[in-house]
Amino acid sequence: MRTHYSTQLSKDSIGQEVTVAGWANSYRDHGGIVFIDLRDSMGLIQLVSDPSHNEDVLELASTVRDEFVLIAKGKIRARGEGLENPRLATGAIELLVDELIIENKSKTPPFQIGDEKVHEDTRLNYRYLDLRNERLFDIFKLRSKVTKAIRDSLDNQNFLDVETPILTRPTPEGARDYLVPSRLYSGEFYALPQSPQLFKQLLMVGGFDKYYQIARCFRDEDLRSDRQPEFTQVDVEMSFCNQEDVIAVAEKTLEDAFKSAGVEVKAPFNRITHLEATEKYGSDKPDLRYNMAMVDVIDLFEDSSNEIFSNIAKEPHINRFKALRVPKGDEFFSRKMIKGLEDFVTKFGAKGLAYLQMKEEGIKGPLLKFMSEKSVEELVSRCGLETGDIVFFGAGDKKSVLDYMGRLRIEIANQMDMIDKDRYEFVWVVDFPMFEVNDGVVNALHHPFTMPKSLDCPNIEDIESIAYDICLNGYEIGGGSIRIHKEDIQEEVFKKLGIDEEEQQEKFGFLLDALKFGAPPHGGFALGLDRIIMLLAKTSSIRDVIAFPKTQKAQCLLAGAPATTDESSLKDLNIRIRKPAK
Ligand code: AMO
Repeated sequence: MRTHYSTQLSKDSIGQEVTVAGWANSYRDHGGIVFIDLRDSMGLIQLVSDPSHNEDVLELASTVRDEFVLIAKGKIRARGEGLENPRLATGAIELLVDELIIENKSKTPPFQIGDEKVHEDTRLNYRYLDLRNERLFDIFKLRSKVTKAIRDSLDNQNFLDVETPILTRPTPEGARDYLVPSRLYSGEFYALPQSPQLFKQLLMVGGFDKYYQIARCFRDEDLRSDRQPEFTQVDVEMSFCNQEDVIAVAEKTLEDAFKSAGVEVKAPFNRITHLEATEKYGSDKPDLRYNMAMVDVIDLFEDSSNEIFSNIAKEPHINRFKALRVPKGDEFFSRKMIKGLEDFVTKFGAKGLAYLQMKEEGIKGPLLKFMSEKSVEELVSRCGLETGDIVFFGAGDKKSVLDYMGRLRIEIANQMDMIDKDRYEFVWVVDFPMFEVNDGVVNALHHPFTMPKSLDCPNIEDIESIAYDICLNGYEIGGGSIRIHKEDIQEEVFKKLGIDEEEQQEKFGFLLDALKFGAPPHGGFALGLDRIIMLLAKTSSIRDVIAFPKTQKAQCLLAGAPATTDESSLKDLNIRIRKPAK
């Protein structure tokens, strides 16, 4: 219907007869001349209806309101002297309308397009209106470009794009499954895949050698700003490979993906062990755009005159005493701000927040009286403390100290504006523990199909796996592992997870069977595509990168899902709804 998109028009088009099509972004009546900014998917162009030129058109143009759908034909002319708009790509020209069609009217929109201060629920209710916002549309253009680059990259690396089932059996990625009742098999359910994990392993057994898929995954878990119940993975698997081969593929794919978005990143990326990440940064996905690593000082409190501290120091295998040096922190943080940081860490289980300040006149602070002179000296040298610094301490149970000190590190970096927002700092976290034990329950840290380095270890929590996560700026953007391809190791791992033979057969019999038929060594990874786009688009909400996202409460406000269903469908499925317990 159109001859040009708005931004294809410029001063070079002056005098040309063109047709443009789009929405009325705004309209103004200036002393009987109507100006309409017409918006299409590329940008804006100003339409002018002037009574001295065409009275009929002006009459029609004066009935146009926001978001009306218009097709306008006319001649491009230069804007008058002093009337140019340098902020607009087409700001030097306008279209003098000869013919105007109001293709469709619009009700007054519930919010101004692009106004992001409007409550998100309202915008999600009318997502199609919010998508008219240029910022969001740009994100989807970026997503499309990056996705294509990823496909091209993996295709060039000889990976085969294969689809795997959506209606399947549960795959254990640690979240709750979304279930779909079967009509033909009353009382039985399909599970939506939490990832294509088992099928991609079966493709390796099937001899496919190199597989990839841009795969939709479904997980019923608590949502956060970087989590959605359905999300997209770049899922990859290959056979006859070791960890280095897999990491090389992931790095090449990420380099190509980022390049397509105009960001040059250079592999090989840094690596740290899981142990180092948690001990130094209190996180298995550390943000390394700024340094600030925690230092162990538990030995300096063994003889502390404070009994609580010395008791903590007596059990270094279960406790931690960590110091976090903040360069120039004493000059930055007022007493009130320090109190604010204390309130922050107490929310995450700290009992308080001890600190020492490096003043011109010497070291000062509430903790000093509990330390010997020698310990203080050692602390200063171990942490590299300098005048103007402040050092915060966390002491107590290992898990809790690492958690709240890691959060404190991020909070301080934000408050002190230490983060270079234009930097992309990738890091591989390697050598993950195979298992974690919570309240006596053993779980796989990655998933149960991950190859342990050796199972021969007296303490189950010390068993390491050949698993790796790729992290970027404090987000886990992907993860993978070398898989178990031998039935006996797989059974042993299941046993350690407390999954008995009957359950193994029932849940994963098909995988165990496949391992009996010449399964090759194999491994792979999956990248969180939504998170990658989020970081490239520099937005903090994953909902911005998904066209029709769910709310934090897992609802689609636009379509009204989830929803009840009619009696006859339930009858077909042999399902009766029990009233939920109050
Ligand atoms: P994992 O569970 O680590 O691994 O998932 C891979 C990546 O997917 C992203 N991700 C999510 N993104 C948005 N919303 C979610 N709810 C969500 N959950 C995960 C993360 C994560 O790093 N089968 C294995 C991969 C493998 O071993 O090959 C798996 O799914 O960026």
